[in-house]
Amino acid sequence: MNEVIGTGTFEIEINGRNVKARMGETVVEVAQREGIDIPTLCHDPRLDPAGACRVCLVEVEGQRRMQPGCAWRVTPDMKITTESPRIQRHREVLYGLYEADHRLDENGLPVPSPNENELRTLCEKTNVVKLEPVEAPRRGRDHDVNPYIKFDADLCILCARCTRYCDEVEAVSAITLAWRGGETTISTAGERGLLDTSCELCGGCIDTCPTGALVEKKALPLIQLDSGKQPFAATKTTRTTCNFCGVGCQMDLHVRDGQLVKVTSPEPGETLNDGNLCIKGRFAYDFVHHEDRITEPLVRGDDGLLHPTTWENALKVASEGLLKVKEQHGADSLGFISSSRCTGEENYLMQKLSRAVFGTNNIHQCAAT
Ligand code: SF4
Ligand code: SF4
Ligand code: FES
Repeated sequence: MNEVIGTGTFEIEINGRNVKARMGETVVEVAQREGIDIPTLCHDPRLDPAGACRVCLVEVEGQRRMQPGCAWRVTPDMKITTESPRIQRHREVLYGLYEADHRLDENGLPVPSPNENELRTLCEKTNVVKLEPVEAPRRGRDHDVNPYIKFDADLCILCARCTRYCDEVEAVSAITLAWRGGETTISTAGERGLLDTSCELCGGCIDTCPTGALVEKKALPLIQLDSGKQPFAATKTTRTTCNFCGVGCQMDLHVRDGQLVKVTSPEPGETLNDGNLCIKGRFAYDFVHHEDRITEPLVRGDDGLLHPTTWENALKVASEGLLKVKEQHGADSLGFISSSRCTGEENYLMQKLSRAVFGTNNIHQCAAT
């Protein structure tokens, strides 16, 4: 990465076009803001640049070698070219090298994955130079018994997005680049299973992985159903707010045939949680279709058992019971507990009910908001 000192806004030239840039920005950051496409694989806007994949090489006037746009900082009057025969030739050969070291489908493209295979998308758009495949399988964990995350070393391009995410965003460093040369792979300390490490099973490494080398185990049966087609073509996506705690992370629910089959985070920068989710938001969605889930109001009868009833009757029974307790023992004998799984408005109404209707300050909620 080139060293750049100073502050301020200035102009640079990309493909003959004058554009505004700020000191400290990289070529890719300026280009993306200006709608100029530079392919990337190891780049994630949340992470420090690594310059690992060489997909984003651009020509910088005055530089003999092409430079990685994701790591090259702009300076005033810099002149950059993002499309040229030299760059195109570089991409065609580079994608060929990746394909030679990757599992391919019957069309000779990197296999589809439950999440977008960014390498496949790039190869589809390029006249890739076909090279002899590398026969040796990569070293890697395929026996990890953790319930959520599967690693397939043969699909890994060693871009280190997962390890940098785990280190820089999650601050856990459960996974790392291990071994050397052709044996290099993603691993944990001592090749332990993720459950025996500091891993929080946040799944952020899955979201950032550009090739499907890291995937959700729960989503794997779906890719088999989809074989030969665009993965997850039949799923509908709905943006919603996670209701596990009061943070309010945004999440995308992927629904197929009325069944929730996967949860992902919106893209980094799109929402306040910046592409991140925790283990609960990402993986704990089985309750949605669970047979024990309460789907109608229930009132306990004289027989001590819960019986289905109408909302009107359930509310009448509840209010009569609460008023009776207040009458017999005073308002402070009552306590109201709300939930961080409710909205802010619902929690506000709950404390109103407690304070204004029943006259007690005994109101609490697990997020204490
Ligand atoms: S699930 Fe989260 S904590 Fe675990 S390895 Fe992946 S990024 Fe790191
Ligand atoms: S597992 Fe995915 S994110 Fe991690 S290094 Fe390999 S390709 Fe990159
Ligand atoms: S995206 Fe720039 S080197 Fe990988």
